[in-house]
Amino acid sequence: MSTRITVVGTGYVGLVTAIGLADFGNTVIACDIDKSIIDKLSKGIPTIFEHDLEEYLKRNIESGRLMFSSQIDFSIKNADVVFVGVGTPDKPDGSADLSQIEAVVDAVAHNMNGHKIIAVKSTVPVGTNRWIENRLKTETGSTNFTVVSNPEFLREGRAMQDFFHPDRVVIGCEDESAKEVLKEIYRPLYLIQTPFVWCNFETAELIKYASNAFLATKISFINQMANLAEALGADIHQVAKTMGMDGRISPKFLHPGPGFGGSCFPKDTKAVAAMGKKHNVQMTIVEEVIRANEQQKIRVVERLKTILGSMKAKNVAVLGVAFKAETDDVRESPAIAVVEKLLEEGASVRVHDPKALDNFKKLFADRIEYCERIMDTLDEADCLLVMTEWNSYRSIDLNEAGNQMRGKTIFDARNVLDPESARKNGFEYFGTGR
Ligand code: UDX
Repeated sequence: MSTRITVVGTGYVGLVTAIGLADFGNTVIACDIDKSIIDKLSKGIPTIFEHDLEEYLKRNIESGRLMFSSQIDFSIKNADVVFVGVGTPDKPDGSADLSQIEAVVDAVAHNMNGHKIIAVKSTVPVGTNRWIENRLKTETGSTNFTVVSNPEFLREGRAMQDFFHPDRVVIGCEDESAKEVLKEIYRPLYLIQTPFVWCNFETAELIKYASNAFLATKISFINQMANLAEALGADIHQVAKTMGMDGRISPKFLHPGPGFGGSCFPKDTKAVAAMGKKHNVQMTIVEEVIRANEQQKIRVVERLKTILGSMKAKNVAVLGVAFKAETDDVRESPAIAVVEKLLEEGASVRVHDPKALDNFKKLFADRIEYCERIMDTLDEADCLLVMTEWNSYRSIDLNEAGNQMRGKTIFDARNVLDPESARKNGFEYFGTGR
């Protein structure tokens, strides 16, 4: 009989995992306590915007390999392997809120009708998988289960593609027979020779945090270097590109901008700092990365103030509110801090985004205006501010934009526009680090 899989949590990680594992040929139940999400998904309607997701979702529902349920007890009883993909948001002190993980662990304990593997995909502080193991032992009074740490490295916007072509699969597993089960589940990745890293729980957990903290460090580093380039009259793009020619550095994650956002970097860097504090280990580099990132967001408005004099009664057209392109996700998006500050400074704000307007509306309601068309956003604007690197912004007709606006200032925080063409069209152009 083939391995029966349940994935608990149908956010980015859980949903992509459930669909991906079903596509590998496994039989999967995707479970979420939110009935409205389950209702939509079972009809093949995506609950998140993610490339190719709808196609894979429909195809696996039709094949009969992917089912949905809001009944956690049923879903766990009917599984040999339970993947955990619930949220671990940060608490006010920066440490991770594990209440959703705890709820799943308790549900597993109450429905332990045979041996089960619990594979934790959610990002959890180092020590959590060991804690889960102990809690299950205490609650069930048995050891008829195996906990496995299987952190996820999916990028939003490319999550399906990343699931099928990961750089590596990390599995913290201290049990040989569970290893065999996981190898079988991930067989298609074995066949394409994806590197598998087998290690203990703590190593697997730390690999995830160290990877994200390092990438965040690269971004904050290049952002500060961009600020310096600006002051010195250097071009950060040439600097970054040439730095990247050194194989030890690599050109990736060296794009300057208004600061990193999203569901991972801000939360994970804070969790690393909190782990350092808890264990009395200096994590000053990561602490500084967090500070520099906050500063980078504020800097956008500070620079605008220097350029425009004051923000009072100024109309600002913000292009892009998603935390990065190709997603509708606005979690920790730098645009949130920037728009908040612009309003505080007395500006009127109109925003455009190809995908994220609805999510942004939930945050700002009627405090700002939302536009479906780029040119409507620019109507009577004093300044055009690019906050997300959507491709559609690269081809804006700057002549038309100039006619639409009342001012002639462009602040391109993501460096997506052509400065030359902006200047030719009579704009004063400011980018990040160039
Ligand atoms: C990230 C990690 O890449 C992924 O491995 C992890 O599992 C989850 O977090 P994601 O949050 O989807 O993925 O986005 P990513 O593409 O990594 O970008 C994160 C943030 O950094 C975005 O706000 C992006 O705009 C910013 N960024 C990224 C830069 O400002 N410059 C860069 O060079 C790269």
